[in-house]
Amino acid sequence: MKFFVFFTLCVVGAIASPLTADEANLVQSSWKQVSHNEVEILAAVFAAYPDIQAKFPQFAGKDLAAVKDTAAFATHATRIVSFLSEVIALSGNASNAAAVQSLVSKLGDDHKARGVSAAQFVEFRTALVAYLENHVSWGANVAAAWNKALDNTFAIVSARL
Ligand code: HEM
Repeated sequence: MKFFVFFTLCVVGAIASPLTADEANLVQSSWKQVSHNEVEILAAVFAAYPDIQAKFPQFAGKDLAAVKDTAAFATHATRIVSFLSEVIALSGNASNAAAVQSLVSKLGDDHKARGVSAAQFVEFRTALVAYLENHVSWGANVAAAWNKALDNTFAIVSARL
């Protein structure tokens, strides 16, 4: 029986530690403070980790200041931030767990196909959290909620890379 439960969790790939409603509220309300700053967020990630910029065919080898104000940059930034917004909006509700699992698994598969490594996802996470710390009302409870949310999401991604 124990084996069956373990096996089922592995196959379903259940999110290890789902956010409580309070934690989801903290993540959602802090994300709302910055989710309209798509270009700034992606630029902060590229500035902190140029190896991430180098993976984007349209931006590789170019000066960040020169590409940051282009339509192509805004389009990419909006795609990435919208994905995060979608997952964040679904969090905190157990009935959305399967949808989150499938969206994030696909993100991992798509990025594996692009040659993105788990270490680069960790870099992305580090840059994102640094951006949040400086641009939202940050505190121990907000940090803990984001940490849990990102642990859950990145565990799913890493398993696919
Ligand atoms: C949580 C982190 C990330 C999210 C939410 C994310 C999200 C996305 C999304 C939504 C797209 C557009 C998919 C499409 O329309 O085809 C995309 C494309 C892409 N992402 Fe990510 N990404 C993340 C991390 C990374 C990292 C760490 C790298 C590189 C090191 C990366 C490299 C790329 C590349 C190269 C593309 C394709 C760009 C192109 O089509 O020219 N992503 N990403």
